[in-house]
Amino acid sequence: MFTLPQEESRAPTTCPGSASTQDLSSSYGDGLEEECSRKPDQKLLELYGVGNPIAMFFSDSSYLSSRGRIIKWFWDSAEEGYRTYHMDEYDEDKNPCGIINLGTSENKLCFDLLSRRLSQSDMLQVEPSLLQYPDWRGHLFLREEVARFLSFYCKSPAPLKPENVVILNGCASLFSALATVLCEVGEAFLIPTPYYGAITQHVYLYGNVRLAYVYLDSKVTGPDSRPFQLTVEKLEMALQGARSEGVKVKGLILINPQNPLGDIYSPGELQEYLEFAKRHKLHVIMDEVYMLSVFEESVGYCSVLSLERLPDPQRTHVMWATSKDFGMSGLRFGTLYTENKDVATAVASLCRYHGLSGLVQYQMAQLLRDRDWINQVYLPENHARLRAAHTYVSEELRALGIPFLKRGAGFFIWVDLRKYLPKSTFEEEMLLWRRFLDNKVLLSFGKAFECKEPGWFRFVFSDKAHRLCLGMQRVRQVLEGKSQVAEDPPSLSDPGAR
Ligand SMILES: Cc1ncc(COP(=O)(O)O)c(C=O)c1O
Repeated sequence: MFTLPQEESRAPTTCPGSASTQDLSSSYGDGLEEECSRKPDQKLLELYGVGNPIAMFFSDSSYLSSRGRIIKWFWDSAEEGYRTYHMDEYDEDKNPCGIINLGTSENKLCFDLLSRRLSQSDMLQVEPSLLQYPDWRGHLFLREEVARFLSFYCKSPAPLKPENVVILNGCASLFSALATVLCEVGEAFLIPTPYYGAITQHVYLYGNVRLAYVYLDSKVTGPDSRPFQLTVEKLEMALQGARSEGVKVKGLILINPQNPLGDIYSPGELQEYLEFAKRHKLHVIMDEVYMLSVFEESVGYCSVLSLERLPDPQRTHVMWATSKDFGMSGLRFGTLYTENKDVATAVASLCRYHGLSGLVQYQMAQLLRDRDWINQVYLPENHARLRAAHTYVSEELRALGIPFLKRGAGFFIWVDLRKYLPKSTFEEEMLLWRRFLDNKVLLSFGKAFECKEPGWFRFVFSDKAHRLCLGMQRVRQVLEGKSQVAEDPPSLSDPGAR
């Protein structure tokens, strides 16, 4: 694993505006491939790119191609937090001093509801067509169900069409497939930072596609602005910056609700971003993987598919999956909705490698069709549990006098721990992260999301109360300089049991 001083390992800030092209980044605490990374030095970063045999610098295997070595490098360098967590996972009975994971964005509050529903007899169907090679776009019965599901939950003005739906095994694969079919090797997507850092790998590992950052900051500039607000002006600056570096930008990636901020774009903002993309003939990849995890009723969510008119429908591609909204990241179900037939067909062709088994497709269709269960049981209960867990962590943070972004969507809170860094550097941020890990709580630090201000952390709250409670107690110990592993979780009424 590479260990370099954090300042040296920063992304090359290549653009005079607010963008820089992507480096070998990943996040610490957001799933296996999204975990800890160390970065190679500036020289290597400059060499990183189209057809570059960067892997020869990482050549610890004579068995692998240069591509294979780069891919292995990502794996080797991206795991520290997650690996440490898995070697010492908290278990109430068997390992009460183990690590509490407030780093991985998963919803662990509804296993009871899901296991009851998925165990019902209507879920198991074995018939020849489900055991044979499928239509690579996904079985028609499932694409029809997904089209109905998205029409309803995205509030589309007209029914969405099954022929625009492609089914595959999750949004990670979909990022990878879209990058490959939309970009040439070495081209880039714009992405506002902080962002879910694993997208770096998703678009690079197969597609050799890079990211051009639109750096956002926490400064509030006026009564109508919010921290880390994305504006068209910032998009324009980042695009010009990337172009002046000779980077060809092919598209814009937007996450709504946003990870890690929890922000939701208003219909007006969405429209502006889409118009910007149209002006520059950019594709827009809309990641709406948290669209049903908006748990505050007062927060109005607007899917891009609800807009009366998409400015550039042929270049607008929407993704959704069950990993977050249905708390099933292990099941691996994702879907693309695009009116562009060429894009749908090219992605479908890659589904030969990213498809879902017929039996799982059947289960998914049954689940998505069961509106009574979704609307009357699952969503209200899931939202109530998310709200309770969010309230608990927010109150803990308030009691500690720690600023954070109060949002009503997603599984995480974006927390400002800048005052705990003796110096405002990413090295200090990493040291603080390590102190948390040493005190047996895994968090995600801001650099993993390419946040440009050191000291921001993402706290995942979508877990059972006893684990949250113990996790927050350990956070408190670190911040108060009293780190030690707590033996007994304090009691708290379990938001997961509501
Ligand atoms: C914004 C965002 N998009 C996509 C994914 C990956 O989704 P999937 O599990 O469907 O691959 C994640 C996972 O953390 C995410 O946060």
